[in-house]
Amino acid sequence: MGRLFNPRSVAVVGASANPGKIGYRIVENMVKSGYIGQIYPINPKGGEILGWPVLRSLAEVKGDVDVAVLSVPADHVPSAVADCAAKGVGHLVVVTSGFSEIGNIAQEKEMVSIAHAHGMRVLGPNIFGIYSASSRLDATFGPGGILPGHVAIITQSGALGIAMIGKTAAESLGLSALISVGNKSDIDEADLLTYLAEDPETRVVLLYIEGVKNGERLVRTLRQVTRRKHVVVIKSGRSARGAMAAASHTGSLAGADDVFDDIMRQCGVLRAESVQEAFDWVRFLATAPLPPGEDAVIVTNGGGIGVLATDACEKHGVRLYDNQVVLASAFAEVMPEFGSSKNPVDLTGQATGEDYARALDAVFARADMHAAVALYCETALFDTSQFAELLRSVYRQYERTKPIVFALFGGARMEAMIRELRSEGIPVFGDVYEAISVLGALYRSARRLAEEDDEEPPAHDIDLERIRQVLGRAGAEGRGFLLAHEAAEVALALGLRMPRSILSRDLDEVVRAAETIGYPVVMKIVSKDIVHKSDAGGVALDLEDRDEVVDAYQAVMRSCLRYKPDAVIEGVEVVEMVRPGVETIVGARQDPSFGPVAMFGLGGIYVEVMKDVSFRAAPIGAHVAREMIGSIRSYPLLLGVRGGRRKDIGAAADVVTRLGQLIAECREITDIEVNPLMVYDYGEGVKAVDVRILFDTQGGDAA
Ligand code: COA
Repeated sequence: MGRLFNPRSVAVVGASANPGKIGYRIVENMVKSGYIGQIYPINPKGGEILGWPVLRSLAEVKGDVDVAVLSVPADHVPSAVADCAAKGVGHLVVVTSGFSEIGNIAQEKEMVSIAHAHGMRVLGPNIFGIYSASSRLDATFGPGGILPGHVAIITQSGALGIAMIGKTAAESLGLSALISVGNKSDIDEADLLTYLAEDPETRVVLLYIEGVKNGERLVRTLRQVTRRKHVVVIKSGRSARGAMAAASHTGSLAGADDVFDDIMRQCGVLRAESVQEAFDWVRFLATAPLPPGEDAVIVTNGGGIGVLATDACEKHGVRLYDNQVVLASAFAEVMPEFGSSKNPVDLTGQATGEDYARALDAVFARADMHAAVALYCETALFDTSQFAELLRSVYRQYERTKPIVFALFGGARMEAMIRELRSEGIPVFGDVYEAISVLGALYRSARRLAEEDDEEPPAHDIDLERIRQVLGRAGAEGRGFLLAHEAAEVALALGLRMPRSILSRDLDEVVRAAETIGYPVVMKIVSKDIVHKSDAGGVALDLEDRDEVVDAYQAVMRSCLRYKPDAVIEGVEVVEMVRPGVETIVGARQDPSFGPVAMFGLGGIYVEVMKDVSFRAAPIGAHVAREMIGSIRSYPLLLGVRGGRRKDIGAAADVVTRLGQLIAECREITDIEVNPLMVYDYGEGVKAVDVRILFDTQGGDAA
């Protein structure tokens, strides 16, 4: 990728002398941005563009060509690619539209395979180009005027990306790189992130993603990169639920956006709600020092906004310093008698600019206060005209030591002041939530940067061979799902604890099974023709003795045959009656975007209503599984409510890691779900009451 970002020479194939054409704008931006390398405009007409001689073909170029930007219509692209191959070009930047985005997949694939055969990588097609600050190269057809800086933007949306150029300039946000990835026929986010992680100029990467291709690789890359750089993502399609087959709860609960959200968090990526929020975050992240610790202090002249800020801190995971004794002494000199040195430190409405500055000096003087939030409501006692200068000097004095954010409220003069200070890169906001949101983003990313290496997922001793045999037998019958006793066999091979169960073919066997297991027992019909057992009257619960078992057997048989007279019935399953515990659901599936994904949630009959579930890219270790369990809203149920004992969370986490390992290693299984997984008191383990498995009879993708 180094050659793409730091090319010694760039050819523009389809360069035009006509200012109305993209091929002109790209050359113009390259010239105006002060590109430090050689520019080769290529056009069969020859001539000159902005002082650069136009060559009639690539073959006329005397030196090497590191990058060729193609800006010729789609039907001219194949011959242009052939010319580039002959010339030994390093990278193709294909601006041209009209490929896979309109269904023209074959031509796009062919272009990539020809490029690869000649050692070329392809950016695009269907893009607006690339900007790289290190070589002062603006090879885009954007509005120009990109400021160099420390934020790299990778965008899948062309129009939004071009609009972002203007917005970064308007907000004085400096970029280290800007890459339009378009159809991602070859180079994708993962390739670019890997490069940017090592790029010394890039401190923050902002990703705009519309759809994830090759999500497993993206996840692996992001997990590496977020330990070196801040990564912010904006993804469109928040509200759209994925059009996924609802063959299992795991599938139907996996709204594409929920999975994306959880996996981004797992990767340590910050997800912004809007472009504006993303811009606020990346601006702050690019300049703010990492906080030396977790304890922030709020300094305010108004009690109300102090409370708002406290709420925002809770929402955004910003912890407030709370040693009251130290607070009282640290702010004693600036605090009026009726003020409050509790954090938020309320200097009250009579505070002067000097009081403010001294209070902030006090925060920065203490090693155990790690970040400052300065809030100010405009009052008559305060000389607003001098305030801008005061903020500027406080900020400049401390900007490199600890993070500081400002939120100001007031009339038109304040609004103008906010704009002015922001244009200088000072983190000033007109709203408490915005100010705390950027600080929260910094804290979250800083925690990720400080994390140890990701734990290795455990390698459970799973009997894959036996599992594949079960799948093979069912597949031979043309089934893509397992019957209960087959699923139970897989569960056993997976190391899950299931209720004892015995398949019985006649009444004698049924009674013997019940006596072996011990009462009470449950009876379930076994027939591949009856999928919804309860609807068919094929389930009898809580059978206390021999007589009840005999009656139930006859009743189950009768009603199943009435429900489906031609059903082939293999027998009934006599199962241990499971004692109640906290009902949870554990699932794993092959996600269309991210590949193997594990799920944990609150189970029971309300699972579809509550949708209290969380997802992680699999395989996962025990630590991540516990954190995933802890992230659901109903987690307190597992901690023990109303005098109840703490539940065996470790045993539940173990099941999650086992399912995660299976789904990652056995790609032919598309969905596996344990519902419910009964979780008992601490030390008493869990029980997988029902296990469902769907698989791909074609064998799935090889792992
Ligand atoms: N080598 C070099 N130059 C060639 C060429 C070749 N093989 N074939 C044609 N050209 C020249 C043309 O003569 C023309 O030059 P001219 O202005 O001097 O006549 C120039 O290349 C451009 O070709 P033209 O046919 O005029 O195309 P265009 O400029 O109208 O459109 C694209 C070309 C690539 C811009 C257009 O096909 C396209 O895809 N537009 C959409 C781009 C886009 O939106 N991308 C995604 C953004 S997010």
